[in-house]
Amino acid sequence: MLAVHLISFFFSKLKEDPTKKVDRFLHAMRLQDEQLVDISNRFLAEMKKGLSAESLAAAAVKMLPTHVRSTPDGSEKGQFVALDLGGSKFKVLRVKVREDEGINKGGVEMEEKTYPIPKELHEGRAVELFDHVSESLKDFLLEKNMSPEKKHPLAFTFSFPCEHPGLDQGLLLSWCKNYKVRGLQGKDVVQFLRQAIDRTGDMDVDVLAVVNDTVATMMTCGFDDQCCEVGLIIGTGTNACYMEELRHIDMVQGDEGRMCVNTEWGAFGDDGALHDFITDFDRDVDAASLNPGKQTFEKMVSGMYLGELVRLVVLKMAKLGLLFDGHVSDALRTKGKITTADVAAMEENGLKNTKEILTHLHLTPSPDDCVAVQHVSTIVSFRSSNLVAAGLVAILTRIRQNRNLRGLRITVGVDGTVYKTHPQYPKRLHKVVRRLLPDCHVRFVLSECGSSKGAALVAAVAQRLTSQRRKVRLLDFIRFRCQENREEGLEAGLKSKGCTIKMLPSFVYHTPDGTERGKYLALDLGGTNFRAMLVRFKRQKTRLYHKIYTIPLEIMQGTGEELFDHLAQCVCDFLDYMGLKNVRLPAGFTFSFPCQQSDIDTGTLVSWTKGFKATDCEGEDVVSMLREAIKRRNEFDLDIVALVNDTVGTMMSCAYEDPKCEVGMIAGTGSNLCYMEELRNIEKLEQSNKWGGLGNDRCLEDIITLYDVEVDIHSVNPGKQRFEKLTSGMYLGEIVRQVLLDLTRRGLLFKGHVTETLKTPGIFETKYLSQIESDHLALLQVRSILQQLGLHGTCDDSIIVKEVCGAVSRRAAQMCGAGMAAVVDKIREDRGLERLSITVGVDGALYKLHPHFSQVLKETVGVMAPQCDVTFMPSEEGSGKGAALIAAVVRQKLR
Ligand code: BG6
Ligand code: BG6
Ligand code: GLC
Ligand code: GLC
Repeated sequence: MLAVHLISFFFSKLKEDPTKKVDRFLHAMRLQDEQLVDISNRFLAEMKKGLSAESLAAAAVKMLPTHVRSTPDGSEKGQFVALDLGGSKFKVLRVKVREDEGINKGGVEMEEKTYPIPKELHEGRAVELFDHVSESLKDFLLEKNMSPEKKHPLAFTFSFPCEHPGLDQGLLLSWCKNYKVRGLQGKDVVQFLRQAIDRTGDMDVDVLAVVNDTVATMMTCGFDDQCCEVGLIIGTGTNACYMEELRHIDMVQGDEGRMCVNTEWGAFGDDGALHDFITDFDRDVDAASLNPGKQTFEKMVSGMYLGELVRLVVLKMAKLGLLFDGHVSDALRTKGKITTADVAAMEENGLKNTKEILTHLHLTPSPDDCVAVQHVSTIVSFRSSNLVAAGLVAILTRIRQNRNLRGLRITVGVDGTVYKTHPQYPKRLHKVVRRLLPDCHVRFVLSECGSSKGAALVAAVAQRLTSQRRKVRLLDFIRFRCQENREEGLEAGLKSKGCTIKMLPSFVYHTPDGTERGKYLALDLGGTNFRAMLVRFKRQKTRLYHKIYTIPLEIMQGTGEELFDHLAQCVCDFLDYMGLKNVRLPAGFTFSFPCQQSDIDTGTLVSWTKGFKATDCEGEDVVSMLREAIKRRNEFDLDIVALVNDTVGTMMSCAYEDPKCEVGMIAGTGSNLCYMEELRNIEKLEQSNKWGGLGNDRCLEDIITLYDVEVDIHSVNPGKQRFEKLTSGMYLGEIVRQVLLDLTRRGLLFKGHVTETLKTPGIFETKYLSQIESDHLALLQVRSILQQLGLHGTCDDSIIVKEVCGAVSRRAAQMCGAGMAAVVDKIREDRGLERLSITVGVDGALYKLHPHFSQVLKETVGVMAPQCDVTFMPSEEGSGKGAALIAAVVRQKLR
């Protein structure tokens, strides 16, 4: 009986599956789903920490903003050189993104060459490493016959953690993997690269973008699959990036849209967050690495370390007599003798590869030893894919939460030797991710052509932005003035919350619907002239009668009472003329100055603008002032039902023809815009944009030139309406005069002869800009216009004057375009639309009479708000008709 027992015990010992003992030995590396969920939740918490300004400094996972704001859209184009440093190979490439080929058309051609990096450079000085990089680049350009004279735009994939103040800057936070180069930490890698390129010489290269390999991978895959919003590397190192909502990234200003965040998840656990998952083998790998204590997660996952983990496990097991009968070879004791490629190979091809690899290490493995060592490899690489799955699940969960979705359809772009060469790795990873996130539809796409394609796409976007900025150059004429051109100021200005655009509510809730009927009076003050108008809305057509009255300067700048008495007198004359003096007509009053309205028929003048400066009006209700003047006159009566800004009047009048008209713009004596805002966005019902005031708080400082300063100082409202003073008819001529004066003083114009005429404010009216800039005008005619103005010059002088006029009016149109773009894009975003189709009603002499203003305005809006289709509709009858319409709408509501 005992013998039977002994024999069966002996057999059971003999037959014990060698994988079992490995399982027992590596118990801590075999992660169950609950543990993965736990790790995933810890990583989610780390991500939050890294994004928030308060906890960022202490966060192990850095969550670095990349300035990449969108995945490719297929419009990228150009030819680029690319550098790819930080993976297992250093490569130089040529990437051609073909025009109009777009997404899914495979429009990218690539040629590449790998340059070995000598071992000593991995741990040498930064200057030496970058010299090697730039010499390789030069070699590549020569080999490909790429002309040294031509400027080559360059994209740089640099696969280390960097902070990016901009797309073309990368401050290295720390080295990792197999690099530890002196003198670069905390510095800009692009600067180093540029300097090295200068040292190497004979190359003209423009470094446009530096990107992490994860970002480049996301972009590469995003070119073929627009759902690709995550980039993942499982190679020498490991890391992931994804598209985060801008509002969650404290380190970047702005709330709208998304930005790609490089998580640098390799550092997960550096603060102890994974302490209960770390084994002695992990500790040993860490201790022997170039960066002990750093990149904890990476060292459990990536190709640089998997072979080493297997070696340490096998060594330990051998030492404990669990393998090779307790025999240990010198090779097995040597760091690096088992590579990650070995790990992959051992899991393939039965046990043949395992046996060969072990024999190569001067070991004599039994078949069971081979099974056991193969199983060690499986457990180590399985743990790796499980950990990556946990990290990825955290990222996908976050994206899903950000977007408030239950399910999510998303693509993950993946690259790296482990993922690409390990036979079972991808399958295992995909399976676990899908098991842990059953509601998400996750597609994994291998980045077939490497990260340089994606880096080139980022560079293409950077290049497009630069060229757009160039196109939208707001200060063309800065040639004459040595001041830098910083258009960003405008965008920032328009976006900045502290800026002085008053958003005044207009109490106009609806655009007209065509059912308006009846006879209305419209009064229109604030443009070039005062107008009185009778509007008769009938079923079939609308009839208009009007009369124009000029307002003498002394009235514009006299007392309020005089001004309103004058208006009453004009209205009286008009009613006389129309034979309507005895009817109490409902009236709409277009008053083209900033008013704080508390209702549709009351409005306090905030401040006079343009040429007006009548006393005792600011802070007063202008409707009451008009009513009182009418009472004083005691000859007629009016029922003033609506007070309307000209922009609102213009919008209403155009909306009568086209219901898509939801923006009104004036480019005339003054400059202003209004739009239909979502009521929920209006705090205290503040609305109707008064953008003329933008810049009052110096937020246009970068754009304002000395000429603008002169114009402002000599205006009736210095320091006010700064934007208007750069963009509207009342001031453009004056800006031109200031430039001409300066050029003449410098001896560049009119033979340096400063005449009294040139010194006279206001002589150069904006209408002259319109005439001089006309394409049909010969230089001699320009010269004769100048002569009429008392400015006697040569034809060369005329060329310069024409250029100055062009630059000033172009800047005005571009600035209005930038503002308009901001407004229409805001409307689009508020409505959550991919594209917006909208009509803008426009009026004003500058828009209507200047030969190029309208075109430049339109082009600028096109460039700066590419997702909006904007139709400009010139208002036919002026804003008076709109005011009458509003009066009609109000009247009908009351009935
Ligand atoms: C490549 C990228 O495709 O993948 C590299 O171009 C990146 O920049 C690499 O680092 C990751 O893989 P590995 O295995 O080479 O480190
Ligand atoms: C008119 C409006 O159509 O356009 C005015 O009725 C407005 O109220 C004007 O001010 C703007 O043009 P300008 O060039 O006369 O200032
Ligand atoms: C390392 C780097 C990281 C890179 C990754 C993959 O983790 O820190 O920037 O993305 O390796 O190459
Ligand atoms: C001025 C006024 C504004 C008006 C604009 C256009 O900017 O302040 O109310 O809309 O001129 O006339």
